Amino acid sequence: MQRTLSILKPDATSRNIIGKVNDHIENAGLKIIAQKMIRLTPENAGEFYAEHKGKPFFPNIVEKMTAGPVVVQVLEAPDAIAAYRKIMGATNPAVADEGTIRKTFALSIDQNTVHGSDSPESAKREINFFFNEIEIVG
Ligand code: CMP
Repeated sequence: MQRTLSILKPDATSRNIIGKVNDHIENAGLKIIAQKMIRLTPENAGEFYAEHKGKPFFPNIVEKMTAGPVVVQVLEAPDAIAAYRKIMGATNPAVADEGTIRKTFALSIDQNTVHGSDSPESAKREINFFFNEIEIVG
C-alpha cells in the first residue's frame, strides 16, 4: 500500500464541494485514512510550497492557499500517488482531461481545487507536515 497527501484547497471549501471531490476520490478506489480541516498561515503555506519559492507565481499560491480553510487528507491505495494524480488531472484545468477533478471543478491554475503529492519522497514530507501517526487510521 502507498500513501499520498491530498489538499482540498480554499476554492473547494468555499464552494461547498468537499463531498463532491471526496466522491471522485472514493469512486477511484482511494481510501481516505486521515482528514482534517485547517486554516494555513502564510508561513505554513510558504513552507509547504518551499520548492516554488522565487517563482513568479509563489506569492499568489500563498495568497490563494490562505484565503480560507483547506481540508488535508491522507489517501491510501496500491499506487496512490499516480492514481490520485490521474483523477486530479493537469495542474492547469484548461488542459485537464474530461472527468478529472480539476476539469470538473477548478476555476484557474491557482484555484485548481486539489493538490496531490508528486513522488514518494514528497508524499512522506507532506504527510509528516500535516499529520502525526496517531491521526492516520491506515
Ligand atoms: P499544486 O499541485 O498545489 O502545486 C503548486 C501550485 O502552484 C499548483 O498546484 C498551482 O495551483 C499553482 N500554480 C500557479 N501558477 C502555476 C504555474 N505557472 N505552474 C505550476 N503551478 C502553478
